[in-house]
Amino acid sequence: MIFDTHTHYDNAAFDEDRDELLMSLLAAGIGKVVNVGASIESTKRTVKLTEEYPFIYGAAGVHPSESGEMAEEDLLWLEELTRREKVVAVGEIGLDYYWKEPEISIQKHWFVRQLDLARRTKIPVIIHSRDAAKDTLDIMKAEKAGDVGGVIHCFSYSREIAREYLNMGFFLGIGGVSTFQNARHLKEVIAYAPLERLVLETDCPYLAPVPYRGKRNSSLYLPLIVRAVAEIKGIEPEHVERQTWENGEHLFEIHQS
Ligand code: NI
Repeated sequence: MIFDTHTHYDNAAFDEDRDELLMSLLAAGIGKVVNVGASIESTKRTVKLTEEYPFIYGAAGVHPSESGEMAEEDLLWLEELTRREKVVAVGEIGLDYYWKEPEISIQKHWFVRQLDLARRTKIPVIIHSRDAAKDTLDIMKAEKAGDVGGVIHCFSYSREIAREYLNMGFFLGIGGVSTFQNARHLKEVIAYAPLERLVLETDCPYLAPVPYRGKRNSSLYLPLIVRAVAEIKGIEPEHVERQTWENGEHLFEIHQS
C-alpha cells in the first residue's frame, strides 16, 4: 500500500468526481491519505473529508501565501482542531518568497505562531518553503523545530539544506518533481537521503508526474513516484513502497491500519 502524505482533495479541481475518485484509491493500492489545509476554509473542508472517509487524515493550518487572512482567534480554532484524533499535523505552514504576498514579516509571524501551536499540542508540522531556504531554516533552528518534528513538503532545495533538515530529524516529502527531466538537484537529494527519511506525496491537484505533467494530479499517479525513487536509489519498488508507508505512519503517529 502507498501512503500519500500531502493532498488537496478539497480543491475545486475535484468537484466533478471527488467521491468516485476517492472511492477508487484503496483498490488502486493507495491506503492512506493526508489532506492538507492551506487556508481557514480549506482546513474546514479538510476536517469534513476526515469525517467522511476512514482512510483520510487531515492537517490543519494556513499556508504562508494565505497568512494575511489570519487573526489571533484562528489560532485558538486551529488548536481545538488539533485535539481531533484524525488531525495529525499542523500544516501547511512556512514561507513562500516566490509569491511575495503577504509581506515577509507577516509570513514569518504566522509561521512562528503555528510552529509554536504544533509544539504545544505535540503534533508534527508540514512545512511549505519556496525560494526561502535560508529564512525557513533560520526560523526552524531558532524555534527548535527539531523538537516538534515533521516533513519538508515538496522538498526543492540542495543536498546541503537536506542534510540540515535530516539532522533536525525531519522527513523529506517527494512527489511529481522527481520525474521531471530537469530535477537534477532533487535526484541528488533522493540518492543521498536515507530511505527511512523519505515520504511520498502528490500535492494533488498540482505537480502531476511525467507523463501527466501539467494535468490534474491525483494519488493514482503515485506508483510513478515509487518507481522514480526506486530507480534513483537502485532498489526494488516494493521496498520503496513498504518503507515509505512505515515512514508515513511514523511521521504522523498513525498506527492502526
Ligand atoms: Ni500543498
